[in-house]
Amino acid sequence: MLTHIRDLVHDAIARDYAVGAFNVENVETTLAVIRAAVQEKSPVILQVSETTIAYAGLKVITSIVEHVARDVAGQIPVALHLDHGKSFRSVAACVQAGFSSIMIDASDVPFQENVILTKQAVDYAHRKEVWVQGELGAVKGLEEAITLLEREPFMTKPEEALQFVKETGVDTLAVAVGNVHGVVKMRKGMTHALDVARLDEIWKAIPNTPLVLHGASGVSVETLQESFQHGIRIVNMNTELKLAFVNALRMTLQKDVDAYDPRDIFKPSMQAVQDLVASKFRALKSTGKANH
Ligand code: 13P
Repeated sequence: MLTHIRDLVHDAIARDYAVGAFNVENVETTLAVIRAAVQEKSPVILQVSETTIAYAGLKVITSIVEHVARDVAGQIPVALHLDHGKSFRSVAACVQAGFSSIMIDASDVPFQENVILTKQAVDYAHRKEVWVQGELGAVKGLEEAITLLEREPFMTKPEEALQFVKETGVDTLAVAVGNVHGVVKMRKGMTHALDVARLDEIWKAIPNTPLVLHGASGVSVETLQESFQHGIRIVNMNTELKLAFVNALRMTLQKDVDAYDPRDIFKPSMQAVQDLVASKFRALKSTGKANH
């Protein structure tokens, strides 16, 4: 059931868990994530990026999510979110398309400019009761910043977080606390260190703004669970799902070189994504929470 993200996040706060936000790009990954949510009776956020919108088309991907949320999810709450919106244009298009949440990511420009761009998105989205996620500090890829010390200059500053939330009116905030995006950390088998003291300070500065952890692929269960003791209520994962899909696909094709029907070929990949997402719900303690 397509549901406003606000309801999912408020329930996560009330019952002390985090909501998983998973990137989907086509009918196969959308079905896999929603089947996992049904299996685990877990609320879920499905998010699409601008590159997915360019790949599939906004109307197409929106209607895939809407239909799967209605026909497959049943009473399980499913929220639709724009991940890393870089332009006002894509933010506005997603607001018009019926998303209940959008991200405006102006984390790569100076603070005041970030405030102006984010506030512009907030003013527009809030007229339609759509939630806005901003980003302060910058979540890098590991190739850009290997150690926690190297990531330090990009991390969210607690005092700036307070000013940012006051001046923009964002509903949720993506924080940079040592988390990194992408595939490299998974390939290097890096242990994913978070600056928990900083996260805690940010949370204390803005206790009423749910925080978002980007780059959660490969993050240990312990670290995920620790993060939501310090204000994280949404946890974003993308790379790990893609790897699960493609690794299963490679195996399927190697096992049967004559296979040619995409429906047969994709089945193990969809199952791999479903199993992975189900395990993430358990890690986030959202299993069983879709019960009202
Ligand atoms: P990962 O690809 O590292 O899981 O990050 C996903 C993300 O943060 C999407 O916004």
